[in-house]
Amino acid sequence: MFARRAAAAAALLLRLASAADVFAHFMVQNAYAYDVNQWKTDMGAAQQIGIDGFSLNWIPPDCQAGLDWTVDRIDDAFTAAESMNFKLMYSFDMSYSTCNVYWNQTFMADMISKYAGNPATYRWNSNILVSTYGGDQVEQYGNAFFAGLKSSMAYSNNAITLAPALTTYSLAAQSDASSSAGKLISDYSSIDGYMNWQAWPLNTGSNMSCTADQAFQSALKSSGKTGPYIMSVSPWQYKDLNDGNPLDTWVAYSDNLFASRFQELTSDAVNPDIIELLTWNDFCESHYLRDLPSQTDTSAKDYVELGEMGAYVWGQNHAPWRIIAKYYIHWWKTGSPPPITMDQVVFWHRIHPKASTCSGGSSQPVRNAQYTDDAVFAWALVSDKSTISMSIGSNQYWTFEADASGPAMGMVPFPSDLGDGAVPTVAIMRNGQAIHTASSSQKVQGYCTYQNFNPVVNLVGPGINSGA
Ligand SMILES: *[C@@H]1O[C@H](CO)[C@@H](O)[C@H](O)[C@H]1NC(C)=O
Ligand SMILES: *[C@@H]1O[C@H](CO)[C@@H](O)[C@H](O)[C@H]1NC(C)=O
Repeated sequence: MFARRAAAAAALLLRLASAADVFAHFMVQNAYAYDVNQWKTDMGAAQQIGIDGFSLNWIPPDCQAGLDWTVDRIDDAFTAAESMNFKLMYSFDMSYSTCNVYWNQTFMADMISKYAGNPATYRWNSNILVSTYGGDQVEQYGNAFFAGLKSSMAYSNNAITLAPALTTYSLAAQSDASSSAGKLISDYSSIDGYMNWQAWPLNTGSNMSCTADQAFQSALKSSGKTGPYIMSVSPWQYKDLNDGNPLDTWVAYSDNLFASRFQELTSDAVNPDIIELLTWNDFCESHYLRDLPSQTDTSAKDYVELGEMGAYVWGQNHAPWRIIAKYYIHWWKTGSPPPITMDQVVFWHRIHPKASTCSGGSSQPVRNAQYTDDAVFAWALVSDKSTISMSIGSNQYWTFEADASGPAMGMVPFPSDLGDGAVPTVAIMRNGQAIHTASSSQKVQGYCTYQNFNPVVNLVGPGINSGA
């Protein structure tokens, strides 16, 4: 991978002409307890790993009852972001197919203009960058709606650059990338850029490729669009609505997804204008990078009510995944891998085998469960030659080698007999001695009270692990 440094450096020169910014998708719905200080805390934790801004996902405040607070939280977010030198853009969530009141151009224009003078407003060249989640599946929206919004913003001298995430095109691109990208351009003349939401393998046990990313980016370029290509990167996906509908419970093959998708960004295979991490705080889809929020302290400023979905979130810390993000973000932004100064191994695992029958949660087979591996996975970043040793139950001392040339990955499978539960342990060995050892915060059990395909993430050695 070091042979690619020259290409990365050349790419860097190109990027400096535009941007090399990293956003994280932020669910405003999970910020109802936030005050300005809580926003600052989250923004500081994001900045610590090289995230430049949040893409604020929100649904129309009058779509459902009880969302009146949303605009106030967004006010606080801009106040905090301005003082933190952090950026914000909107991701208008247009995926709700039933709303009391849908998004309308007047309200959107007012909310975009409201912060046009705030330095936290993220701009693409001189325009305000606006994104969405959806806009292609609900009849109230579509190309004409976007065109109307753009012309009213231009008329009020707050021109926008529109880079929506039109999910049908991103899904279709997983099987036929170039025709889906071509169709996007012909169906949506109003768009300037594109956010490709599909960061996970789609109903397959194969690793993801960048084919769709390349197709969208080149379609934008060849049609003369001047907006950014936004590539999404995500560590995982698992959701269980537990409503009896087998379509509403799924996992994506994510065992090695995070590092391998980031690794693509260090090659010359793909070079997006912006990276968007999915996500900062979408707990119920199991791809949160943020620390776990407060579960029981209802007066905490990050308190979130997760309801039944909390059954697969509480206790499943993800914070050490931010170490992986930090390493690759630095590499992508500078064009060369950062020096490795610490000894760290991030490791993650599910807490029951995929074949377990659990007493709670969806009883149907989870869609795509067959693609997951019953194993503990590790990503090692060490400053000197080391042997990483992994154990769980009777599978003792599975090892792999790592050194300062870059990250290394390894795994140990769950043993067939888990007994009363087995706690994975991982050690960093150097010169025959364990220099750091850690056990997982959770054991793996054959028995489960709630079906859970959301992994717990752990850390060996020093570094970010604030959610444990
Ligand atoms: C536009 O949306 C806002 C926010 O949801 C809502 O308060 C307002 O009533 C809507 N306007 C129209 C004309 O629907
Ligand atoms: C996906 O890639 C990882 C390495 O990043 C590899 O270990 C794994 O076997 C691959 N999975 C498949 C299904 O090819």
